[in-house]
Order: sequence, then structure tokens, then C-alpha cells
Amino acid sequence: MFVPAYLDHNATTPLDAGVLEAMLPFLKERYGNPSSRHEYGRAARAAIDAARQQVAAAVGAHPTEVVFASGGSEANNLFIKGAAACLKPATIAVSAIEHPCVREPAFDLKRFGWDVHEIAVDAEGRVLETDFSAALAKKPAIVSVMLANNETGVLQDIAALAARAAKAWFHTDAVQALGKVAIDFRALNAAGVNALTVSAHKICGPKGAAALVLDKRIELKPLISGGGQERKLRSGTENVAAIVGFGAACELAVARLEADAARLNALRGQLEAGLAASGAAIFSRNAPRLPNTTFFALAGIDGETLVAQLDRAGFAVASGSACSSVSPEPSHTLLAMGVEAGMAKGALRVSLGRANTEEDVARFLEALGETVRKLKGLAAVAA
Ligand SMILES: Cc1ncc(COP(=O)(O)O)c(C=O)c1O
Repeated sequence: MFVPAYLDHNATTPLDAGVLEAMLPFLKERYGNPSSRHEYGRAARAAIDAARQQVAAAVGAHPTEVVFASGGSEANNLFIKGAAACLKPATIAVSAIEHPCVREPAFDLKRFGWDVHEIAVDAEGRVLETDFSAALAKKPAIVSVMLANNETGVLQDIAALAARAAKAWFHTDAVQALGKVAIDFRALNAAGVNALTVSAHKICGPKGAAALVLDKRIELKPLISGGGQERKLRSGTENVAAIVGFGAACELAVARLEADAARLNALRGQLEAGLAASGAAIFSRNAPRLPNTTFFALAGIDGETLVAQLDRAGFAVASGSACSSVSPEPSHTLLAMGVEAGMAKGALRVSLGRANTEEDVARFLEALGETVRKLKGLAAVAA
């Protein structure tokens, strides 16, 4: 069977074989409801408790601070909507490069009398100091700035930002950071971060499990109420197998973090040397970034067309953010960075993962070169 090379790990990752092993009993014989009082229920509850400890350990939090949810999107919505429902309408400040599952709930708050301040970023995609100060001048009640961007991979200095926004409820979306850079919720919390989002399927865990790591001094209104699971913050019978898989994936991610990051950084170096030699513009190259992510564009080439051609050639990559690739709009992250719309439409994201090799990168560079020559040839004929 023809297996395309997978270079789209920021969209999702393959399920690790050991993680699947850990999950299987909870899809088979250990199917109890964790709220049940009998042996089946107790086994499921114990498994969730163990996973809660694994997730907490991976982000330097206490297990009681971990609130399980179905995905990063739900956890981000829970924080923003849940916090706003407990506060008087005021200003919410979110960076201009947030994932839609932060942006949309934030803008939705306008209906309830909130003012939204979109914090501008510089040409490299880092939060602009002057605009962050302008946001703080409005005394925002809620601030959300992502730890790592899903498209460029750019990392923000969250502790420094949170320290300046001491009066706000401060949230950071760490979905792309988990497993790629170390996360220490205790230190972030001491600096003023109240909540952090992580998601299993980005770290070789299953889809359907994520967590909002939440400072216990913060009170949120739940999105889903009912049986009172997850400290009454997320009612509904827990997705036991997925939560167990999330725990196992966290343990693996922590154990492999340093080795994975070093290897991916070296592979990314190989990729970017090849791209730079072919004249590609690599976005955010001078900012601190995740070790696995490259976002680039080649002048005059359309990103969507390139993705389709590379797919045929056997390479799975993304144009802009995979989560929003149904929309033909240029990446809002690049537009916020001041990249011209035509250039932004040409953007392609390669996000490397554990299974990728030097050979994958070399073959990808070759296929990209051939595809670009073909597309330029077609354009010349059409002109
Ligand atoms: C930065 C970021 N936040 C949130 C999400 C949403 O997470 P999930 O797919 O678990 O809902 C994604 C998914 O791509 C993401 O990249």
C-alpha cells in the first residue's frame, strides 16, 4: 500500500502503539462508568485518577487543577465563556494570532456587552509590547495569549506577559506547546497565569481528550452542567479510554521531550536550509519557535494548489492552519504579522513528528522543487 509521508503533525499526530495498548482494556472489558459504585466503576475511576496525575506531571500542575474536556476547542471555550459568565462585562484581550477556538468565543462576548482588544503582533509574530500595554490600559478582565502558534510555531513569553496583567484572569492555549517545549504551570501560575489548555491528539494520544489546567481560585460557569463530573465544570460521563490514552501520551511526551526536540530541530534545519536555497520566504525564522514547525511561501505559487500537488506526489502538508483549511481566506496569523495577502495565500506549513527522517525531508525538498517547476511552467504557458 502506498503510504504518503506525513508532515502535518500540528494538525494531528498518529496514535502511539503503547498509548493504544493502554487504552484498549477501557474499550473492552473495563467499560465501567467512573461514577458507578461497583468494581467496574471503581476501576474506571482509578484509571482516570492515574491519568489526571500523568497529565498534571507533564505540565507541572497539581492533579486537582486538571479538568478533562473533549478537546482543546472545548477547553478554550470553557475558559473564555465560563470566565465571562462570572464577571461583569469589561474588556477581553486576545492576541491577533489566536486559534479560532479562542478568537470566536472572545468576539462572541460582544453580544453581552464586552469590548474585545486584539493584541497586535510584530512581523515575526511576537506580541507587540506597545499594543500589549495599550490592552492593559483598558484594564482587561480576561487575557488570552497562546504559548505556541499552530502555524508559525512562534513561542510567546507568557510568564512575562502574565506578570504585567496581574489583575486579569490570564489564560494561555498551550495545545501546540505540549510535548515540544517544557511547560511548568506552577511557575506560570506564580507569574499570574490562571489557566492553560492542552490536548491529547497533538502528542500521539487519541482524539476526544484534552484538559483545562485551572487555578483553583478561579471560578468558571460550566458549558455543560448535569451530573457534576470534573469539579462540576464539565458534566457528562467521562471518555475513560481517551483520558487514559491522554495520560499515557503525556508520560511518553515528557520522557521523550529532549530527544524529540533535538532531533526535530535538526531535521527542521535540514528542511529550512533546502527551502532557503530555493528562495522560499520562511516566516518567523528569527523568533523563538517550536522545534518541529516551518511556515513558508514561494513567490507566485498558490498554497492550496501546492498542497494538492504535493498530496499527489505523496506528501501530507498543510496550507495555513489545518483546523481552518476549509476556509480559502489567507492565514489570519500572517495577515496580523503584516504579510501581504497574495504572499499569505501561498503559505505552506510543514510540521514534523517522531516518525519523520532525513530521507523524508530530502524527498520532500525534491518533490517540492519538481512541483514548483511544473506549476511555474504551466503559469508561463498560460501567460
Ligand atoms: C493552538 C491550537 N489551539 C486549539 C486547537 C484545538 O484543539 P482540538 O483539536 O483538540 O480541539 C488547536 C488545533 O489545531 C490548536 O492548534
